[in-house]
Amino acid sequence: MYKTFSKVAGVARTAGTRTARRSMATVTDEKSVPRIKKFQIYRWNPDEPAVKPKMQDFEIDLNKCGPMVLDAILKIKNEQDSTLTFRRSCREGICGSCAMNINGVNTLACLCRIDTDISKESKIYPLPHMFVVKDLVPDLTQFYKQYKSIKPYLQRNDLPADGKENLQSIADRKKLDGLYECILCACCSTSCPSYWWNSAEYLGPAILLQTYRWLADSRDQFTAQRKQALENSMSLYRCHTIMNCSRTCPKGLNPGLAIAEIKKSMSFE
Ligand code: SF4
Ligand code: SF4
Ligand code: FES
Repeated sequence: MYKTFSKVAGVARTAGTRTARRSMATVTDEKSVPRIKKFQIYRWNPDEPAVKPKMQDFEIDLNKCGPMVLDAILKIKNEQDSTLTFRRSCREGICGSCAMNINGVNTLACLCRIDTDISKESKIYPLPHMFVVKDLVPDLTQFYKQYKSIKPYLQRNDLPADGKENLQSIADRKKLDGLYECILCACCSTSCPSYWWNSAEYLGPAILLQTYRWLADSRDQFTAQRKQALENSMSLYRCHTIMNCSRTCPKGLNPGLAIAEIKKSMSFE
C-alpha cells in the first residue's frame, strides 16, 4: 500500500520537477524579452506659465518595474525625469495622497495595477476639474476648507460619565463601518459632475460621507446643528444620485449611499 503510494508520489515529484523546470525556462525567456510600456503623463510647470500643459511620453521596461502605476511613475522620476511631480507617501492605499486619473478612472496610483498590455499606452492625468499646482498635483485647498467646515470631530456638551471615555455600544460602533475608512483621497468628489460645476458651494461626496460619519456617531451631541448647516439648496441637495462617486472609490466605499442616508434622515426628522 505504502509502496504504491510512494511510487505514485515519486512519479508525481518527477513530473512536478519537469513542470517546474519548464515553467522556469519560460519565465526566464519572458524576462529576457523587454516589455516596453508607454506612459503618457500630463505635465505643467507653474514656473513657465506661458507654456501650455502637454502630455509627455515615457517608456519603461515592465520586467524592471514593480506592478503598480506608482512603481512606474517613481521609476520614471528616479531614472528619467526628476522634475516629474506627484504626491505619494504610504504606497499602500492609506494616506490618499497618490490619487490621480489613470486611463480615465480616478484612483490611487499605489493600488492601481499597470495594464500589462504593451500595445496600449497608459494615460495619467491629475484629478479632473481641479486647479493644478504642478504636473499630477491638484490644488486641494477648497476640498480641505470644506472638510474643515463640517467640524470633523466629536462635539459634546458634557463630559463622559466616568470622566474618561465616551463609550459606545458594539451596535452603534458598527454604524460607522463603511464611513471611518475614508482616506479623503478626493477621487469621488472629483468624479462627481455636480461637484465639477458647483464646488464653491456643494460639499461633494467625500465631505458629505464625512458629514454622515459624524451624524451617525452615537457619541456626538451636535446632530441638530450639523443638519441645520446642510439646510440650504447647495451644500447637500446638489447631489443628483448619478453615483459616479461610489463607482470610483478606490476603498470600495459608498458615498452616494451616505448622501442618501443624510437626505432620508433630514426629511424624516
Ligand atoms: S451620487 Fe451625488 S455625489 Fe455621487 S457622483 Fe452622483 S451627484 Fe455626485
Ligand atoms: S469616499 Fe472613497 S473616494 Fe471618496 S474620499 Fe473617501 S476614500 Fe476617497
Ligand atoms: S501613496 Fe498613500 S494612498 Fe497611495
